[in-house]
Amino acid sequence: MYFIDNLLLNYFGKKNEGEISVVPSMGLKPTCRYAAVVLMMMSLIGCNAKKDQTNIELIQDMMDQISVKAQDWDADKPEMRANLVPPEKSVPRNVTPYKYSGKPLDAETKLENPLRGNFSPQVLELGKKKFDIYCAICHGSLGRGDGSVAPKMILPPPSLMSQKVIDFKDGRIFHIITEGQGLMGPYSTQIVDEKSRWALVNYIRTLQKNTQTK
Ligand code: HEC
Repeated sequence: MYFIDNLLLNYFGKKNEGEISVVPSMGLKPTCRYAAVVLMMMSLIGCNAKKDQTNIELIQDMMDQISVKAQDWDADKPEMRANLVPPEKSVPRNVTPYKYSGKPLDAETKLENPLRGNFSPQVLELGKKKFDIYCAICHGSLGRGDGSVAPKMILPPPSLMSQKVIDFKDGRIFHIITEGQGLMGPYSTQIVDEKSRWALVNYIRTLQKNTQTK
């Protein structure tokens, strides 16, 4: 109420010494008067007969700021980009960069599977969920390289039940999920948390065991 009173005073005149308010009463009770004023303001703000014109902005305090907006441009900056590119080797907060980027063999020998030997229903369910979403379309739901898009691919996805993949250490499969391999793209942006990627490795191991014993 105080705010509206002041606003009206700013727009319609100064309060005189000793006078309580110069807001016209319009013959209404105070509450109705304020409601009428708010309605009036809202209709003013909403008023926009020509769509290519800006609305009337009654309170402009926060409208124009010096802060840089996303997608803004700045004639003084290289490439006129207002948003600065992070310096080389900078890392987002709370993110540990992947150590073995471009080094599948290092990943294979040095990465330890934190879920090694953990074939609990929770882990396998998590692994299956990710496998069915991200991998089965190419590698097939049992990992045999017979996913639904496989026949249409020039280089068909290999079977994950091959002796080659069975012999891969867990770290190598984790690396391939994280960074991709050859024609296969990386999945670290889709399968963000590392635990899910390790669960996926364990799920592939389960598929391999089941295939071997059949
Ligand atoms: C778009 C199809 C596609 C999807 C989806 C896909 N892959 Fe692959 N994958 C491939 C192809 C093609 C290769 C062979 C790439 C190469 O070596 O050039 C491959 C290779 C692999 C290999 C190495 C096999 C070998 O014999 O060298 C592994 C392991 C693997 N993928 C696991 C996965 C997992 C796990 C997922 C799910 C997160 C997945 N892939 C999703 C197409 C796919």
